[in-house]
Amino acid sequence: MKVGVIGAGTMGQGIAKAFAQVDGYSVALCDIKQEWAEGGKDKIVKGYAKLVEKGKLTQEQVDKITAAITPGLKEDICADCDLIVEAAFEDMNVKQTTFKELDAICKADCIFASNTSSLSITEIGKGVNRPVVGMHFFNPADRMKLIEVIAGVNTPVDIVEKIKKISEEIGKTPVQVNEAAGFVVNRILIPLINEAAFIKMEGVSDIEGIDTAMKLGANHPMGPLELGDYIGLDICLAIMDVLYNETKDGKYRACPLLRKMVRGGNLGVKSGKGFYVYNADKTKTPVDKL
Ligand code: CAA
Repeated sequence: MKVGVIGAGTMGQGIAKAFAQVDGYSVALCDIKQEWAEGGKDKIVKGYAKLVEKGKLTQEQVDKITAAITPGLKEDICADCDLIVEAAFEDMNVKQTTFKELDAICKADCIFASNTSSLSITEIGKGVNRPVVGMHFFNPADRMKLIEVIAGVNTPVDIVEKIKKISEEIGKTPVQVNEAAGFVVNRILIPLINEAAFIKMEGVSDIEGIDTAMKLGANHPMGPLELGDYIGLDICLAIMDVLYNETKDGKYRACPLLRKMVRGGNLGVKSGKGFYVYNADKTKTPVDKL
């Protein structure tokens, strides 16, 4: 099966790896510029080189996986895809335009899926001449086992079932979700991260204290503030705003500290600074300890 992954950023790279690691799958990794697509593949190759160094994978295994990923432009390499997983910028206009363009490029039986983390699948599919389904991966997409499979109002049952089957084939566990802002995981997880930002803003504890408390007190693998940095604070803020705008419920009010940090370009790991500063030697320092 050939899968077109649209967007060669963090999620696109992880999704490309999740498919390419499985026999019988090849990936067209696309972005709006050829060099961005190639940059995404370069990062994938570098990541795997580290795993070879550590002895986790052999060079032969890595060569096979990376050979299954072709970077390029969707108009050049997606015509014969069987499945599209769109992981473009989290913006309704961008997603709608991307699918309309893909409609003209892809063969008639290609399934269209979006990795949106909170936007309406029904709205994304508006004006597209085939159904759109949600196929929501979690970061790091090649390691995390869950895929939320989201049925929009107009998504036929057979498309939902096909995506569940493909999810299982690549070693994931699908959970079917009806369309609703934030689906299941982000409706719970992102308000938790937002609450941690409020706790920091109110001075209840410091950054390390909050993260340590949740790691040791709730057995979370990462603390909420380091997880926010890892996901991207801009993504967390965008999801809070979607939850609020869809429901107008004050319980989804974004923490002002989170908004201030995003406005200042402090987005977390990807910008080198969020609740932590990410040092060149791979260590990180909480910003309130600088
Ligand atoms: N093959 C073989 N070995 C591999 C490998 C691969 N493909 N990838 C990694 N490894 C190795 C690593 O090198 C590492 O080896 P060492 O221990 O020797 O260094 C080992 O396997 C363990 O690697 P992990 O990457 O699994 O590391 P970890 O156990 O520390 O887990 C983590 C990392 C998975 C990120 C974990 O911290 C975690 O689960 N964190 C929470 C993540 C989370 O909540 N994600 C959801 C975010 S929300 C989201 O994504 C939705 C959204 O829409 C915003």
